[in-house]
Amino acid sequence: MTLKYETIDHTNDAFLEILEVLHKAIFTPEGEAPWSAENFKNLLDNPVCDCWLFYSGYDPVGLILFTSIVGEIEIITLGVSPTCQGEGLATEMLSQLMKFSKGSSIDNIHLEVRADNAAAIKLYKNAGFHIIGDRPNYYKLANKSMVDALLFTFSFCK
Ligand SMILES: CC(C)(COP(=O)(O)OP(=O)(O)OC[C@H]1O[C@@H](n2cnc3c(N)ncnc32)[C@H](O)[C@@H]1OP(=O)(O)O)[C@@H](O)C(=O)NCCC(=O)NCCS
Repeated sequence: MTLKYETIDHTNDAFLEILEVLHKAIFTPEGEAPWSAENFKNLLDNPVCDCWLFYSGYDPVGLILFTSIVGEIEIITLGVSPTCQGEGLATEMLSQLMKFSKGSSIDNIHLEVRADNAAAIKLYKNAGFHIIGDRPNYYKLANKSMVDALLFTFSFCK
């Protein structure tokens, strides 16, 4: 499947509201705090931060928010609408980010994943990312339990 994406114009409130709704649908069931339109605007006010909104037809189905600084990309968040998960969308979204990175002389892509997030771990391992470390008890869940973060990196350097 080829998904189209649009780079978010953070001065456009309509886009920010779509991100708020999508983020809430994706992350709140996992017990994470939803990000408001204002949270997205504040992040995207930073010129090194970009957000791609992916569409299936006219429906927003996924997002990737990332920073890009001197050859290093960090994925801050990536998610797919719960109604569209398990259909290969995240694999396609990540592949598009990796193609863009390769064409933009990026050396490495970094990210953190909750150690209990089996789907995300599979996604990144399938794409060739490697675990380079962990942060013990990094995430605090709604039930107050703590979960480690795994640090993943993909390197374009041979
Ligand atoms: C993680 C997430 C982005 C995956 O999106 P998706 O579109 O369902 O992923 P894909 O369909 O491309 O599947 C990727 C791989 O994960 C596997 N997978 C999907 N759901 C899984 C699950 N619940 N448990 C284990 N593996 C799973 C798929 O089988 C696939 O591997 P395969 O190609 O070897 O079969 C999605 O579940 C999500 O948005 N989760 C909530 C937000 C989140 O956790 N984001 C990641 C933060 S870094």
